Amino acid sequence: MENRSNFGSKLGVILASAGSAVGLGNVWRFPTEVGNNGGAAFILIYLLCVVFVGVPVMVSEFLIGRHTHANTISAYQKLAPGTWWRYEGVAGVFIAFLILSYYVVISGWTLYYFVLSLTGYFAQGKDYVACFSSFVSHPVQPIVYAAIFMLMTHLVISKGVESGIERFSKVMMPMLLFIIGILVVCSFGMPGASDGLSFLLRPDFSKVTTNVVLSAMGQAFFSLSLAMGCLCTYASYFGSDTRLVKTAFSVSAIDTVVAILSGFIIFPAVFSVADVEVNAGPGLVFITLPNVFYLAFSHMPVVGYVFSGLFYVLLLLAALTSAMSLHESVTAYVHESMHLSRRRSAALVSVSCMLLGVGCSLSFGPWSDYTVFGMTMFDLFDFVASKIIMPLGGIVICLFVGWKLDRKLVRDELTNGGTLRFRFFRFYLFLVRWAVPLAIALIFIHELLG
Ligand code: PHE
Repeated sequence: MENRSNFGSKLGVILASAGSAVGLGNVWRFPTEVGNNGGAAFILIYLLCVVFVGVPVMVSEFLIGRHTHANTISAYQKLAPGTWWRYEGVAGVFIAFLILSYYVVISGWTLYYFVLSLTGYFAQGKDYVACFSSFVSHPVQPIVYAAIFMLMTHLVISKGVESGIERFSKVMMPMLLFIIGILVVCSFGMPGASDGLSFLLRPDFSKVTTNVVLSAMGQAFFSLSLAMGCLCTYASYFGSDTRLVKTAFSVSAIDTVVAILSGFIIFPAVFSVADVEVNAGPGLVFITLPNVFYLAFSHMPVVGYVFSGLFYVLLLLAALTSAMSLHESVTAYVHESMHLSRRRSAALVSVSCMLLGVGCSLSFGPWSDYTVFGMTMFDLFDFVASKIIMPLGGIVICLFVGWKLDRKLVRDELTNGGTLRFRFFRFYLFLVRWAVPLAIALIFIHELLG
């Protein structure tokens, strides 16, 4: 495509891709998984999954995007015209659209909690369970917050690749890392923090079952933003000198460090409140932590204020950079294939996605009785996206690169036309042809049966 935009710098490439990967999944999902699955033992298994499953899939997505310099749907069409492989591109973009519609709802909750933290709400010691459920089931309030979040994402995306995504990632990612640093210090300063630390660092191998290994792999997949067309779309803006394998390792490393540091923030803090248990999912962030903030307020008001406010800013930044990549995956397709201007494409995506988002939000309140297969609209979207399309997409991407693409094309792309050395090429091929598809197939079957 002529005049296609590109990221302007190597740092921009890494920070934008890491921004996609670092999201709500790192900050609340990872610590919960660690807590439930044997502490450091889980972290160890997770690391193996990132290196042997996550990185090969990420490298494969990068090479498809960078080789074709096209949106995800056109990328597969270019590489395998007129074949069934193109449905992998279609599935990726479609699922990015669905995920965005419910991701903005949770991000809207985060925005609301950020506003609450500014008002000193967490100093007042409320019933945080009741507060959370009355907010999320309200027919209007959460939709307004979701819409504001969508507008923020929209404004960045409509500015374009270099002056939108890249420029904002370069500001937001360093801010995010800085905030994490401050929060780790706050958390370590809480009374009883050392119990939380020793819980996190003590490996309990007795809890490791096949289930735990499979959860670690699922977490790695979600956290690294794989199989949604996001990284493939970003890679289509990489320059010819970007080192794909190195970039995949850097992005995975940043994502993993943020996840582990989130554990360092959450566990010491949570253990400082004796009667609060580690909840799964949103409960951890919107119910457990408010109790922790209340405790911090009662000991040291300034720390309580900084801790609660910055924590929700951290979540917001993480959510925003991930939402940007989901939005871009769809916008790039609409812009390039439907021949609409970038601004109009972005507006079309934002508005239509927000309409679905309204449904997702209402499914926590007035629409909670409308279910399909026993799932509300929100649960259904999450189920289809993360339990079905994501694992299947991972398998298809690997098989596509491993078996369908010409070996020389793959080698050229990974070595930038032979100018770089890639000693593990055969090992990489073995992984994408056999090991990774088999491993993911195991998760998939497990998830469906479980
Ligand atoms: N990786 C993001 C997170 O950890 C979620 C995400 C998934 C973003 C897929 C984009 C694509 O929250």
